[in-house]
Amino acid sequence: MSNIEAVAEEAKGWRRHIHQHPELLFDLPETASFVAGKLGEFGCDQVVTGLAKSGVVAVIEGSKGPGKTIGLRCDMDALPMSEQTNLPYASKVANRMHACGHDGHTAMLLATAKCLTETRDFSGKVVLIFQPAEEGGGGARVMIEEGLLESFGIEEVYGMHNEPGLDIGSFATRSGPFMAGADRFVVTINGKGGHAASPNLTHDPVLVSAHMITALQSIASRFTDPFDPVVVSITFSEAGNEKALNVIPASVRLGGTIRTMQTTTRKAVEQRFRDIVHVTAKLFETEAEINWMPGYPVTVNDPTRASAAASAAARVAGEDRVDQNYEQSMGAEDFSYMLEKRPGAMILIGNGDSAYLHNPAYDFNDKAIAHGVRYWLSLVGQELGSR
Ligand code: NI
Repeated sequence: MSNIEAVAEEAKGWRRHIHQHPELLFDLPETASFVAGKLGEFGCDQVVTGLAKSGVVAVIEGSKGPGKTIGLRCDMDALPMSEQTNLPYASKVANRMHACGHDGHTAMLLATAKCLTETRDFSGKVVLIFQPAEEGGGGARVMIEEGLLESFGIEEVYGMHNEPGLDIGSFATRSGPFMAGADRFVVTINGKGGHAASPNLTHDPVLVSAHMITALQSIASRFTDPFDPVVVSITFSEAGNEKALNVIPASVRLGGTIRTMQTTTRKAVEQRFRDIVHVTAKLFETEAEINWMPGYPVTVNDPTRASAAASAAARVAGEDRVDQNYEQSMGAEDFSYMLEKRPGAMILIGNGDSAYLHNPAYDFNDKAIAHGVRYWLSLVGQELGSR
């Protein structure tokens, strides 16, 4: 264990280095080369760069003969926001910040690589996946499209994300749907503009948009099962001109996001959304165009793998520090693409009493590093038989 503490201490330095040099989406040249450099230094059997542009994949073979191949995944990208932590190791780049702890996730997986290459006390193979573009770019999907799962023979996948508000040294997961599917939309209502004093000569799209916004709220309140969470948020509305208040505009644009927690509900809600938009537009003699932008799928933990993840965490953290039935989140996570293709599980690791994710005051808690590394090693030990 003392070795893990020493590696975790070293990883704190890596984490702070990455924190100072945040990069966005698929463009992570410095982060990816830092990660690939470390993995090469540790003596991983294979280090492959360039998947999804900045993704890095490393393979470590166990010394105990053949066995299954499991993938451990972390994300490496930051967010386009200004850091307000006043930390000595704060971001050195304006309007970029590691505000979701992906710097910590990367450091923990690097530290795990270092420990695994030193011991190799397992059968089969561990594939370490360092992915770009979790924050909106779907980097996981692109890595899968480029052959990640097949070319490395990955049979199961595991992910870990930090969770502010959960105690340091604690873990949380759940079986089945864990995080939401998140889709976005922009609707354009095309009517007929004209003089505000003669509304009878127009097809007023502003009135239509008001009916549409109201009717769309019936999806969550009247269409879906109250025990099946759905969020419909209209976050964008644009029409007319405040300097021409006597003009009814010809069109209105509305936009927003829809969150669902079941794949079947996600499909049904999309259809209901389309019906409401088109029928409401037609009712008032206007037409609507929908630009539907599918986002991350629902993050669904395989029940067996979720319980394996929980028991691997319990082996190092203790039963009482692992919540196996943690609340669902309406946030979304692109690890969901990997879970669509392979059985696996996402686990949350406590970040203690910190600001929440995507907050300018947020910082990953370095005290979590050793716990995260112990979890990854415990999972490898449990699944690949080194115990
Ligand atoms: Ni994140």
